[in-house]
Amino acid sequence: MSITSITAQQRLDSRGKPTVQVQLTTPHGTFRAIVPSGASKGDYEAVELRDGDKSAFEGNGVLEACRSVTDVLGPKIIEAGLDPSKDLKKIDQLMIDTDGTPDKSKLGANAILGISMAAARAGAAARGMPLYQYLADESGTPSKDFVLPVPFMNVLNGGDHSGNPMAFQEFMIAPTHATSFAQAVQWNAETYSALKTLIQSKHGKGAIGLGDEGGFAPPIQHPHEALDLLMEAIKIAGHEGKIKIGIDPASQSFFTDGKYNMGFKTNAPDMLDAAQLGDLYRELLEKYPIVLLEDPFGQDDWSAFTEFNKDCTIELVGDDLLATNVDRVKIGEEKKACNSMLLKINQIGTITEAIGAGNEAFSAGWSVFVSHRSGETTDDFIADLTVGMRTGHLKSGAPARGERVAKYNRLMDIEDELAAKGLTFRYAGEGFRDAHKDV
Ligand code: PGA
Ligand code: ZN
Repeated sequence: MSITSITAQQRLDSRGKPTVQVQLTTPHGTFRAIVPSGASKGDYEAVELRDGDKSAFEGNGVLEACRSVTDVLGPKIIEAGLDPSKDLKKIDQLMIDTDGTPDKSKLGANAILGISMAAARAGAAARGMPLYQYLADESGTPSKDFVLPVPFMNVLNGGDHSGNPMAFQEFMIAPTHATSFAQAVQWNAETYSALKTLIQSKHGKGAIGLGDEGGFAPPIQHPHEALDLLMEAIKIAGHEGKIKIGIDPASQSFFTDGKYNMGFKTNAPDMLDAAQLGDLYRELLEKYPIVLLEDPFGQDDWSAFTEFNKDCTIELVGDDLLATNVDRVKIGEEKKACNSMLLKINQIGTITEAIGAGNEAFSAGWSVFVSHRSGETTDDFIADLTVGMRTGHLKSGAPARGERVAKYNRLMDIEDELAAKGLTFRYAGEGFRDAHKDV
């Protein structure tokens, strides 16, 4: 089953910035993918090619990346006669080799990823199976049953994703005690609605504006203010004790000169060293039902991660620290820096490498947490990926805004489809960290 055409077009992401769309055609149809983009990006991510021509989109155009697809990579893949139903690894490898740089900076990770995603979709269609099954096969996931993830929904936005003074980037709600994915979505949506009313009553109507990931961005600064708001909203919605909390401070965004500046969005610097910041996290962990902490320290602050991980009982996730890069995951394992890898497909630029990094993390006994980007599209690929890899949890922002809910809606479709087919599946629930091990 050969590919007959691969083209790319410049489209928009959820922040109104250009991004790459790929269309890949086979005898089974035309398969599309649109690439996401981050704001709080780490230095170890694969490179997103931007035109730099200031006369268009302030230099953010991706026409060059589109040409990488249409003029360079597409013709090469077609000429090689590769078949997406069985050759995804070869397609990805051919793109890596053609680019030839360690960070995909020549042809662009945005170009390469678009083809990789569209090829996976074409492969699934050729094999007559849903994308999550194709990705389960690609990942080597044991196929006993399917696991629907706990949706960690970011309902309070700060950091680089909003205009409020809060340094921490994300406060997520995780309905670990729900019994199905659909119920988890419902509980989170009810809590989100309660949070809106609460913010309005405490801070006024003008305070219910949203950040980039659809969460509210009220004029608060300190993490305990955010957590108190969440606890109250969970209680009002009637889900006390059943919804837990995750935090992604994205601390690289406020790391300067060896310190963490909790006041980085205000005129009053509030500098903490890694030990003081660690103490703050421990205080929060003691007081609130937090089950997951991501990037508590900067992307090169390995020693702070290792120190914190020593007596850490919750999930400690490396995002900017690991960049979905198998080499950095191995360093993390050696240094015992964390116990979970965030998986962002555009951090590395091919589906094969993202799965490879995730499998390396699994083999170390870690968890894998699948993630969207703050600049998203309505492409719902990661919903299938989280089920295919059986990661047990994912984050895709608030239960609001089309590009965020596209993933949650797709996961509800998958849950319904599995039920209709009579296949065995379950909601990850409290065991979300170990969903992959539990077969
Ligand atoms: P980003 O944020 O997509 O802006 O990098 C997400 C995250 O830090 O997890
Ligand atoms: Zn993060």
